[in-house]
Amino acid sequence: MTRTLIAGNWKMNGLKASLGEIRDAAAGVGRGKAGVEALLCVPATLVSLAAEAAHGSALKVGGETCHDAESGAHTGDISAEMLADAGASHVIVGHSERRTDHGETNEIVAGQAAAALRAGLTPIICIGESLGQRKAGETLDFVSHQIAGSIPEGAKAEEIVIAYEPIWAIGTGEVASPDQIDEVHTAIRSRLAERFGADGAALIPLLYGGSMKPGNAAEILEVTDVNGGLIGGASLKAADFLAIYGQAK
Ligand code: 13P
Repeated sequence: MTRTLIAGNWKMNGLKASLGEIRDAAAGVGRGKAGVEALLCVPATLVSLAAEAAHGSALKVGGETCHDAESGAHTGDISAEMLADAGASHVIVGHSERRTDHGETNEIVAGQAAAALRAGLTPIICIGESLGQRKAGETLDFVSHQIAGSIPEGAKAEEIVIAYEPIWAIGTGEVASPDQIDEVHTAIRSRLAERFGADGAALIPLLYGGSMKPGNAAEILEVTDVNGGLIGGASLKAADFLAIYGQAK
C-alpha cells in the first residue's frame, strides 16, 4: 500500500519563537498512526531546533532545498548531509518558488534529489504547471517532462516522494478541483509506472499542494492517487496542520 504523507512547508517563515508550533504539532501527532507520516519542512536555521522539539514523537522534520554537493566552496548553500546531520529526514527539492527565484532546472533538481538520497534523506520532488500552461492545454506534457527530468537516475521508487503543486493554486486560496487533481495524478502515476513498473509506481506517495486547508483536505485526500499533501500557509499553525493530519488515512 502507498504510504500517506502529510507534509508542511514553512517556506521563509519562522523564528525560534515559532518552535512552540512544532512542539504542539509533535504533541498532537504523538506516536503517529499506521500508514500516515507527518512532516514539517522548515527553514535551515530551524531544522536542528525543530528536530529537538519533535524528538520523541512521530513528527519528522525536513529541509526546503539542498545543494547537490556534499561540501565545498558554495557560500550560503546547505548540503543534504548538513540537513541530515541537523536531524532532517526529508528535503523538498524543485519547489516552483525555487525554480522561479533561483532558476532551478529539472537537471539541477535531479542533482539535488540525488544528493538527498546520498545523504539518506527522502527527496520530495515538486512539479506543477503555471496558469498559462494550463490554459494552453500543456499541463500533462509539462509535468511529464518535469518528472522525466527531475527524478535522478538510479533512484528507487521506495526512496522518493512526488508533490504536484499547480503554481496557480499556491498561496492563492484557489484550489485545484478534485477532477483536475485526479487527471494530473493519474497521469503522474502512469509516467512513474513506465519508469518503475506498476508495482514500483504504487510505492511512491503523490502529494497535492496548493491552498490545502483543514476545510478542503478531506475532499482532496479522497481523490484516487492522492497520497497526502504538501501544505504551505496552513502548516504554520499546529492546529491547522493537525486538523489536516487528522483527516488523513
Ligand atoms: P500554500 O498551501 O500556502 O498554497 O502553499 C503550497 C506550497 O507551495 C507548499 O509547498
